[in-house]
Amino acid sequence: MRTKIVAGNWKMNKTFEEAEDLITDIIELLDEQGKPEHVDAILCPPYVFLEMAGDITADYPVFIGAQNVSQYESGAYTGEISAAMLRSMHIDFCIIGHSERRKYFHESDEMLLDKVKMAHKENLVPIFCCGEVLQDREVSRHFEVVKQQLENTVFKLSAEDFNTLIIAYEPVWAIGTGITATPEQAQEMHFFIRDLIARKFGAEAAAEKTILYGGSCNGKNATELFAMPDVDGGLIGGASLTAEEFVQIVHAAGAGA
Ligand code: 13P
Repeated sequence: MRTKIVAGNWKMNKTFEEAEDLITDIIELLDEQGKPEHVDAILCPPYVFLEMAGDITADYPVFIGAQNVSQYESGAYTGEISAAMLRSMHIDFCIIGHSERRKYFHESDEMLLDKVKMAHKENLVPIFCCGEVLQDREVSRHFEVVKQQLENTVFKLSAEDFNTLIIAYEPVWAIGTGITATPEQAQEMHFFIRDLIARKFGAEAAAEKTILYGGSCNGKNATELFAMPDVDGGLIGGASLTAEEFVQIVHAAGAGA
C-alpha cells in the first residue's frame, strides 16, 4: 500500500513565536484526535525554524522538511543551505522544484536535478514538484509540460534513486488562487504521471510512488481529492498555516487510506 502523505509548505510565513504556537497546536490536536496510521504528516517551515520544529516534534509522529536545498555541496555560496546541513539537523524531507522557486528564483530543470542529487547524497527525501501554468492548460499542453518537467529531471535518475522521492503535482493556476483542480482533473494528471513512471521505471515503481496534489487544497475539498485512486495526499500551502485545518486535511487523507 502506498504511503499517504500530507505535507504543509509554510512558504515565507510566520515569526518564531507564531511558528512555535502553530507546531504546538498541530501536535496537540494530532495527539488528542489521533493521527491516522497510514498517513505521514510533514511540516515544512522556513529554514530558520527547522531546529525548533525538530525539537518540539521529537517525540511525536510528525516529520520535518525543508522548503529548499542548495544544488551545491559546500563553500562560498552566501545565503545557501546544503543538504549536509539539513541532514545534520535530522531533517528527513525537502521540497524541490516548487513553481515559486522556478518562477521567482529562476531554478532550471538542470539545477533541480542537481538539488535532487544533493538531497539523495544526504539521504533526504525530495518532494519534487511539477505542474503547468494556466496558459498551458488553456491550449491543452498540460500533459506535455508535466511530462517534459519529469523527463528533464527525476526521470534521469537511476531506478533506485527514483524510488526515494515523492512527486507533488501542483498546477500553478491552482496555487494560492482558491481555484482547486477538480478531483477529476487531479486524478487524470496523477494517472498520467503514474503511467509515465510505469513506462520508464516499471509497474511496481509506479504502483508504489506517492503522488501528492497541491493547489488550494483545504479542509473542505481534501476528502474529495484524496478519494481519487491516484491522489495519495497533498502538499498544502495556505491551509497548513492553521492547526485545525491542517489536522483536518491529515484526517481526510486517513479516510481515503
Ligand atoms: P496553496 O495551498 O496555498 O494553494 O499552495 C499550494 C502550494 O504551493 C504548496 O506547495
